[in-house]
Amino acid sequence: EKGGYDYFMLKEIDEQPRAVAETLLGRLNDAGQIVLDEVRLTDQDLRDVDKIFIVACGTAYHAGLVTKYAIEHWTRIPCEVELASEFRYRDPVLDRSTLVVAISQSGETMDTLMALRHAKEQKARVLAVCNTNGSTIPRESDAVLYTHGGPEIAVASTKAFLTQLTACYLVGLHLAQVRGVMFADEVAAVVERLQRTPDQLTALLAEMGPVRQLANDLRDASTVLFIGRHVGYPVALEGALKLKELAYMHAEGFAAGELKHGSIALIDQGTPVVCVVPSPVGRGVLHDKVVSNIQEVRARGARTIVIAEEGDEAVAAYADHLIRVPRTPTLLAPLMTTVPLQVLACGIAAARGNDVDQPRNLAKSVTVE
Ligand code: M6R
Repeated sequence: EKGGYDYFMLKEIDEQPRAVAETLLGRLNDAGQIVLDEVRLTDQDLRDVDKIFIVACGTAYHAGLVTKYAIEHWTRIPCEVELASEFRYRDPVLDRSTLVVAISQSGETMDTLMALRHAKEQKARVLAVCNTNGSTIPRESDAVLYTHGGPEIAVASTKAFLTQLTACYLVGLHLAQVRGVMFADEVAAVVERLQRTPDQLTALLAEMGPVRQLANDLRDASTVLFIGRHVGYPVALEGALKLKELAYMHAEGFAAGELKHGSIALIDQGTPVVCVVPSPVGRGVLHDKVVSNIQEVRARGARTIVIAEEGDEAVAAYADHLIRVPRTPTLLAPLMTTVPLQVLACGIAAARGNDVDQPRNLAKSVTVE
């Protein structure tokens, strides 16, 4: 069943180009509009939305954090992302014009389900982004967009994350279009870039040899830090989660700019710091800020593992290890930058002799609160 792979996780990492392609398939109709799967909401309902909450757990929550950047940029609707397990306990302000987006691979995560039910009690509209047909979360939602990732067996989420991002980008584009904030040709331009990503992922996956080697080198590290800005920040969080979950190592993700407010004190001689660098194209300021953050950590002894776009020459001087990813628009970059972090965590876990597909203390689907 593992198709020649040592672990389901490796197989699922390699399935990502196809999973993303299938999630995109048939989403743009002849009129250039994004098509969702089950929409029991009218376009007018979507035009009336004045606030969005995304609720999810773990990796799906990180997909939500990336989505916030895209949704706010494209639709100009305020969007908050909340851990599903915290949502209802803080008594959020919700009403008919609130859209709650519940992201869940399994569709059965109890925390996310309870957040969704709370939202519905408050009359909010709920849209599910889910990988499992007919599961509870999409059944109880007003609209659904399925990710077509196929079954994910490994406990650590990989292809689910990339397909969640893909689907959530489509949700953002759909909302922007229905509300008239983006024209069909603008939406089509983003979709075209999305459609290029499966081939880019295939190319990226073919270059993962050095990452596997690095994983072997890092097997005895006592802590690994991850830094990023903008959409690179949730990618840093995701990289750290994968490492904790699989390698049972201390790992933490930080917003690169926040490091100097305390956590930089953690950095010692040789501390590995994985740095997710934004594209230098378009948003040069963001890129330059991250480069200076890399210099800061390096000056304090960090061993820097830099994930940067092809053609970004400025970073090379500050990288102890440089991992290249294909060029994408800034908002879509997590579809690329996450992949080496998955491979790294998987490699470190394997090098430590851990059970990669079934890490200790974890279950694939968490059906208790
Ligand atoms: O099925 P869900 O997407 O609702 O699951 C949410 C989390 O439990 C899940 O993403 C978890 O964090 C993964 N094991 C992370 O790799």
